[in-house]
Amino acid sequence: MAPPAFDRAGALRVRVGPLALKNPVVCASGEHVMTEAGIRAALGAGAAVVVAKSINESAAARRQLAQTDYLRAGAGWQPLPWRGSGGSILCRSGLQPRDSADWIAAVAALDREARAHDAYVAASVILADLDAAVSLAREIEAAGIRLLEFNVGTPYGDEAAHGGVTTERAAEKVGAQVAAIRRAVGIPVWVKLTGQSENVAALAAAARDGGATAVTMIGRMLGMLPDLDTMAPALDTNLGYGGDWALPLTCYWLARSRKRLGADAPLIGTNGARSGADVARMLLAGASAVELCSAVLTGGFGVLGAAVDELADYLERKRCRAPDLVGRAADRVLPYAELPARAEHWRAFVPAETLGD
Ligand SMILES: Cc1cc2nc3c(=O)[nH]c(=O)nc-3n(C[C@H](O)[C@H](O)[C@H](O)COP(=O)(O)O)c2cc1C
Repeated sequence: MAPPAFDRAGALRVRVGPLALKNPVVCASGEHVMTEAGIRAALGAGAAVVVAKSINESAAARRQLAQTDYLRAGAGWQPLPWRGSGGSILCRSGLQPRDSADWIAAVAALDREARAHDAYVAASVILADLDAAVSLAREIEAAGIRLLEFNVGTPYGDEAAHGGVTTERAAEKVGAQVAAIRRAVGIPVWVKLTGQSENVAALAAAARDGGATAVTMIGRMLGMLPDLDTMAPALDTNLGYGGDWALPLTCYWLARSRKRLGADAPLIGTNGARSGADVARMLLAGASAVELCSAVLTGGFGVLGAAVDELADYLERKRCRAPDLVGRAADRVLPYAELPARAEHWRAFVPAETLGD
């Protein structure tokens, strides 16, 4: 007898707090969603949520867009053509240069359009001044936008001396920042945290205690790549640094945060996901949804639809639903003391000379 038909669309559905999402694939904020056309392309590709390019009140952060630059590097740090997949991304970014009222109106209209796709378009605010962020959050809610991502952890806080963006590493400050936004608006707030912290789970707990609906993690690292020809830093300065290598770091903090906050606190994965298989990996680590940015910037919006399809294939193969994946690997992380003892095992991992053979 043929196995019962698998409900692929039903299997993809997840919940992030009050939001029911058609799938866990989120188009993350970045230059690709700087325009209405980009956001429509992400919706068309099948993302359940599109996070629009971030805004804040800082003129300096806006001006930074004119100083951006981007590099994709492959094996041996060779520059690769920007368009393609794989490798590491090194860049410095800037914020949406459009007037914030104008952008909020555009995002509100797109979020209305998104209903026809059973999707959401979220506004994104990057913290500079907290009172200004609170005002923007109020404007966003008043415009009818149904979801806000509040980023308190851009990679560039230490580099951008103008204070126009924040890399918040103090848990008590994260708690206060989120609480201020929470007091101002009733819509769901996803709080995006830095990965440049020795305890992302503590930041996540503070965000949750401050009233975050979900916590997005982990923001990218800073890096500097010397160029052997010029003997100068690639792209002249310190850069936000990401790549597929970041996925285990993100999964580690998702799992640690799930342990600390409990299975009921929704987490969103970002940093290192490039495919539907990677979305599944981040779900297994504890995320309820996963944001993709670099893969879309370099690979185009089709990456989002391909990720949804690949995740559905995996779910069908495993005969389970996306919510069943959430945290399954995280909950099986063993303490080292419980691992089996294999006294000679290390010998297989050293050069022959070490063993005197
Ligand atoms: C060029 C570029 C621009 C970005 N701009 C924003 C932004 O405006 N707001 C934001 O919250 N995150 C921004 N990000 C971070 C991404 O949304 C994402 O969290 C990060 O790149 C890690 O995910 P990835 O490995 O899929 O790229 C940007 C990232 C890149 C590479």
